Amino acid sequence: MEILHIAAECYPVAKVGGLGDVVGSLPKYQSKAGHLVKVVIPHYDTIFINENEFDCIYSGFVKLGNFNFPFNIKKESTCILGFELYLVEIPELFDRKEVYGYEDDIERFVSFQIATLDWINSRNDIPDVINCHDHHTGLIPFMMLYANKYEKLRNIPTVITIHNAIYQGQFGFDKLYYLPDFDLSKVTFLEWDNRINSLATAIKCALAVSTVSPNFLNEINNFGYGLESLFNLVRHKSRGILNGIDIEVWNPLKDEMLFANYSIKTLDKGKQKNKEKLCSQFDLDPTKPLFSFIGRLLEEKGADLLPQAAAMALSENFLEINILILGSGNAEIENQLSHLLATFKGNYNVFIGYNEELAHQIYAGSDFLLMPSRVEPCGLNQMYSFRYGTIPIVRRTGGLKDSVIDIGDNGNGICHYQASIVDICSSIQRAVKLYKDKKNLKKIQKIGMNIDHSWEKVCQEYIEMYHLITY
Ligand code: GLC
Repeated sequence: MEILHIAAECYPVAKVGGLGDVVGSLPKYQSKAGHLVKVVIPHYDTIFINENEFDCIYSGFVKLGNFNFPFNIKKESTCILGFELYLVEIPELFDRKEVYGYEDDIERFVSFQIATLDWINSRNDIPDVINCHDHHTGLIPFMMLYANKYEKLRNIPTVITIHNAIYQGQFGFDKLYYLPDFDLSKVTFLEWDNRINSLATAIKCALAVSTVSPNFLNEINNFGYGLESLFNLVRHKSRGILNGIDIEVWNPLKDEMLFANYSIKTLDKGKQKNKEKLCSQFDLDPTKPLFSFIGRLLEEKGADLLPQAAAMALSENFLEINILILGSGNAEIENQLSHLLATFKGNYNVFIGYNEELAHQIYAGSDFLLMPSRVEPCGLNQMYSFRYGTIPIVRRTGGLKDSVIDIGDNGNGICHYQASIVDICSSIQRAVKLYKDKKNLKKIQKIGMNIDHSWEKVCQEYIEMYHLITY
């Protein structure tokens, strides 16, 4: 079948978080399974986009109320990613370094959605299914059903995949005129809490709703960031599909970013080599257990707890552990984490920023990975860490609950319940104990390395979902 994914991110073209990883890998495996897969994202000013060749295949103007923005659809010419990549180039709105965070994000992403639909509408061959991702693409199912100019697209089934329900793409009805003319009797589909809500609109209008883990779907029925009653109403068309990972990109035996490659058979030596290099780079002691955090420094990731938890764990363990943090985000958290250096230098370090290569090196060189998330619709880092023989320490929430089982229950990681400093520290204590019991440590590492989180297995669940709405 022909599957078209529409999203704001796609690794390695443009990535902020896990959304990019999924949109960069699920299509590749769908393609390998024999489907024709296309991915559409905006044309940002990123290294990948600047360094690769694209052909312009369509041009037009997005009409956003009184504004007219020229746009081009550009196709990556070599299929280098294993699927067809299309970029929507609207220079005025997207020729920028960052993916999100601008004052005109609403204008940017509404324009992106309209340009994408204008292009699809112009084609003779239309996809069998359109898979939208998160609120940036949430108005697409609505416009396809009710905008006059997209009548031709009315029967294409749509899916909204929810990677994050906190951000919903809300804006006031004063901007309703941004949308192309549509059947006004349908305006209630756009509304949630007296505002236009892009995510709620997609949940109402898409033929199927998927979340990135089964447990997250259960959670949002009770606590859905203001959308719980809506989630309850659409249960019949919802399903939770646990994300997979790209096991070609995340393979310690072949990963070119590592200091040394290793497999389950050479785990001890391989991890030791990676750890020594990493520790010398960050002035840490490779004889101590290394706990790391990789990700966005946001409250939803529990990163606000890290400065105090790190300070407490380092003091309580009399400097018997090392902590390394890689991430960027909230400026206050960044500052607090940087300040810890003064007290704990030699046992602690932090790299503020986004660095894909360093992330790979940290997965390989660490003993434990901290994921104290408040909210985690799926979480991919625990899966990457399993693959590299690194034991995840997680709060039992969202997809972390689906994928990490506590070692007390013969599992593969260490889990705690509360998003609190005390809970993180007591998990670290349990990990220190495990680290000393080398036989058990190795057993748990191997359990993790043997788990199959590949998309090969999971991508079939997406296909089944598409079949349900296409036949
Ligand atoms: C978002 C979620 C994360 C999920 C990722 C990919 O970043 O916060 O939990 O793994 O999307 O679906």
